[in-house]
Amino acid sequence: MQLVLQIAMRCLWLGLVCTMQHYPASWGHYDVCKSQVYTEDGLAWHYMACQPEATDMTKYLRVSLDPPNITCGDPPEMYCALENPYMCNNECDAETEELAHPPELMFDFEGRNPTTFWQSSSWKKYPKPLQVNITLSWNKTIELTDDIVITFESGRPEQMVLEKSLDYGRTWQPYQFYATDCLDAFTMDPKAVHELTQRTLLDIICTEDYSRGYVWKYDKTVRFEIKDRFALFAGPRLHNLASLYGQLDTTKNLRDFFTLTDLRIRLLRPATGATMVDENNLSRYFYAISDIKVQGR
Ligand SMILES: *[C@@H]1O[C@H](CO)[C@@H](O)[C@H](O)[C@H]1NC(C)=O
Ligand SMILES: *[C@@H]1O[C@H](CO)[C@@H](O)[C@H](O)[C@H]1NC(C)=O
Ligand SMILES: *[C@@H]1O[C@H](CO)[C@@H](O)[C@H](O)[C@H]1NC(C)=O
Ligand SMILES: *[C@@H]1O[C@H](CO)[C@@H](O)[C@H](O)[C@H]1NC(C)=O
Repeated sequence: MQLVLQIAMRCLWLGLVCTMQHYPASWGHYDVCKSQVYTEDGLAWHYMACQPEATDMTKYLRVSLDPPNITCGDPPEMYCALENPYMCNNECDAETEELAHPPELMFDFEGRNPTTFWQSSSWKKYPKPLQVNITLSWNKTIELTDDIVITFESGRPEQMVLEKSLDYGRTWQPYQFYATDCLDAFTMDPKAVHELTQRTLLDIICTEDYSRGYVWKYDKTVRFEIKDRFALFAGPRLHNLASLYGQLDTTKNLRDFFTLTDLRIRLLRPATGATMVDENNLSRYFYAISDIKVQGR
């Protein structure tokens, strides 16, 4: 979204306020911007509410893992492919740069070949659950403007929860549940984001859209759908942003829904690709994440 368009939409929504001569230092939680416009009387300044441009928020975060020593490679380990237990050519060694998979690699530049990614140790302690918390902290309040997208290099988890905090990690609320079987994992009925309405927008749902299927080579992402939720107010192509911003400004719990200081990805059960876990080859089961996208302001 271009800043200019955003300002224009703001202005549209504010209506007459845009042409005010005397203006306060800020309107609500927005700053005041001014821009030069041509009118019948010549050049004039227009003042309007505006916001900083949305940016890549992963540049400003701190990441922490729980358990802290869950990253693979200490000691070195060989991994097998989920689809083929005889294909075991993925080595992780924390001491060797080319074979290490530290958490920073979830946030580095994408498009390298081969892909760089964070990887957990494997499910050696099966049947004890393999669970990992990845906590992203900003130490400031951010407002999401686009989908959160997590790209897995392993199979996508069979069970996962995305949580958020609005108070710097003191309290947490679920954002969305993800499972191959929502009823079994969380005793929740499965629901897709397109089933939400303006009235149920703030409902916390469990979705099976990002866990199912074994064709994971082509289906690597897990999303938290911000744009689809925005579309409930702004229309399918987000053409009516004025309506969305109007709602966000007047409805505190709606604005709070898209606002956070911390995010937590709770990985609860790795992909197994089958109903039975192959206990003779637990090095097939692990988590690996190559990218996390968080856009906001
Ligand atoms: C991590 O540390 C804990 C406690 O020190 C230990 O019990 C566990 O085995 C370690 N896990 C790994 C994967 O090294
Ligand atoms: C299981 O894992 C080992 C490495 O730990 C590997 O050598 C072996 O080929 C794998 N596959 C099977 C079916 O045992
Ligand atoms: C992860 O976070 C949850 C709360 O959000 C907590 O209950 C759990 O103990 C944490 N650690 C792990 C390894 O799951
Ligand atoms: C968080 O921000 C506050 C105020 O800007 C600062 O004093 C504090 O040191 C920061 N904490 C961390 C962990 O960065």
